[in-house]
Amino acid sequence: MPAVREVIGRVCFAFPPTRAVLEARRRRIARSNIMERDRLLQFWRGREPDGNVPEDYLRPTWRSELLAELLADIPKDARILELGCNVGRNLAHLADQGYSRLEGVEISPHAVELLRVSYPQLEDATIHLGPVEEVLPRLIEGYDVIFTMAVLEHIHPDSVAVFDDMARLGAALLAIEPPPERYATSSRQFPHDLQVELRRRGMELVSLTDLTHHPLVANDDLAHYAAYRFERAGGVGSPAQPTTPA
Ligand SMILES: C[S@@+](CC[C@H](N)C(=O)[O-])C[C@H]1O[C@@H](n2cnc3c(N)ncnc32)[C@H](O)[C@@H]1O
Repeated sequence: MPAVREVIGRVCFAFPPTRAVLEARRRRIARSNIMERDRLLQFWRGREPDGNVPEDYLRPTWRSELLAELLADIPKDARILELGCNVGRNLAHLADQGYSRLEGVEISPHAVELLRVSYPQLEDATIHLGPVEEVLPRLIEGYDVIFTMAVLEHIHPDSVAVFDDMARLGAALLAIEPPPERYATSSRQFPHDLQVELRRRGMELVSLTDLTHHPLVANDDLAHYAAYRFERAGGVGSPAQPTTPA
């Protein structure tokens, strides 16, 4: 009877009260299926067949062109940090555009090894090797911009303190991530509502760009993503807000 079930599912989805029940059930199932945090971090630390394939991230470069376009107003001497930089294609592209104060955080030692041999323009860039969960709390000095591309979607629900550190360290944040309603439900993806998470931590959404029709990523998975730009409420340079409970 899968066809009948499908019709019932569609009808229930069309009405807000039954839809709310269906969505709550979906969230419960998604939560029960998720990977434990240690296993998740082990996946990103490792190599295929049970982990990351850093070589896949050397291309495509149009994603990095999109990033540079989104950061076009940022001065070339700005202090910039990428979370989850992998082999560094984004940082290398920014270095090629003249940005000189670049840093990254990456959990995969294989990716960082490949970064060092692939991009000589990042010779002077500090790459912090380790999970953002451990690296960010140790950082003291702030950044003009912290950015992510397809990384916050992989931050485990037990690691949301990462958002505290991002708000503490970044005067501006650029997150190129899927909007919550477009999240795939794999065991390594977690639908964080960035607007809620970061507003709660004193960051103000200053622009939201839907990438669906962006010509640079039209044929790419990134077409399902959006670019969220936040600035510290009260202006760049004002102190980060303490976290308020949900
Ligand atoms: C989908 S890839 C995106 C890579 C890069 N941002 C890009 O667009 O080329 C996700 C990256 O985040 C890294 N990553 C995932 N979880 C992490 C964590 N908790 N701490 C640091 N890096 C992490 C992965 O190793 C991987 O390099």
